[in-house]
Amino acid sequence: MRHFIDFSDLTLEEWAALYRKFDDILRHPAGYRERARGHVLGALFYEPSTRTSFSFQVAMHRLGGSVFAMSEPGSTSVAKGESLKDTIIMCSGYADIIVLRHPCEGAALAASLYARTPVINAGDGGHMHPTQTLTDLATITRLRGGIDGLNVGFCGDLKHGRTVHSLIRALSRFPGVSFYLISPRALAIPGYLRAFLHARGQRYVEVTGLDATMSQLDVLYMTRIQRERFPDPLEYERHRGVYILTASKMRAARPDMLVMHPLPRVDEIHPDVDGDPRAVYFEQARLGMYIRMALLLDLLSEPDRTPPDVAYRGGARLCANPHCITAREPHLPPLKKEGCCAYCDAWLP
Ligand code: NCD
Repeated sequence: MRHFIDFSDLTLEEWAALYRKFDDILRHPAGYRERARGHVLGALFYEPSTRTSFSFQVAMHRLGGSVFAMSEPGSTSVAKGESLKDTIIMCSGYADIIVLRHPCEGAALAASLYARTPVINAGDGGHMHPTQTLTDLATITRLRGGIDGLNVGFCGDLKHGRTVHSLIRALSRFPGVSFYLISPRALAIPGYLRAFLHARGQRYVEVTGLDATMSQLDVLYMTRIQRERFPDPLEYERHRGVYILTASKMRAARPDMLVMHPLPRVDEIHPDVDGDPRAVYFEQARLGMYIRMALLLDLLSEPDRTPPDVAYRGGARLCANPHCITAREPHLPPLKKEGCCAYCDAWLP
């Protein structure tokens, strides 16, 4: 069964087909009003969400389907200690497709092992957020005409920002893209991602200053400092407000540079930038609904529902990352991928 756990689940040809579908939905929305009639989306959000949750739910409604949603784990049996495994086996028996956001890294991959339906990763801890990546790629393609050869700057919390991790991995598959990774040293990209960039021979620089790089960029992808992922609140306080994009800083940018942001913003983009035609973050969020419609249609067209293998495996824990789903659900099979934990990408000893 096909799932969407990471952008690498798509070939570039499949991505191009998804983009064409997105484009067609934008042009002819009325033609899609009945396409998911009779189908049910289970939206399981174990972490706060505005755009991802709403855009998936509205995407399903606009396709004629229906939705059941969990946005407060405290109001379900999760509060009684139910495992992700049990919740997924159950909910995927009610739904035709599951969208999952969870605080543990690798939770969506774990869910896909037990689900009777396709699973979509709507964010797994600080790890990945591939449907935001679809949103970002669709926005860049629509507004810049393509992705190849662009200079893309990522600014903010590159350590914890899952949207950044997903988008970097995806963009590195397009020819000629260069990265400017702008962050305080303590919030630089994780080691596994740096190793990935090296292995691909990707062109990138890591810098701490935004102003000096501005004029080089075709896209500036701003992100917030991810307060909830800091074990030490003082560490968060040290970094908050470190980058603030303002209208006056935008004077140094190219006339066609896109300012993007997965949102929510805190203070990293001053509201005086909002009126700048280069500030496209609200349009980016709007387009996210249409690319999610295309993704839902694609995965709902899966013909067979293979019963999942739910055998108990037990055994020693594979991964030492305390945020990995295997720390919470020790029965998960020990899956490896190129010397790393297949769930969370942490190096294995
Ligand atoms: C992001 C997320 O949840 O990772 N938001 C989103 O889905 N659009 C970014 C963030 O929380 O900073």
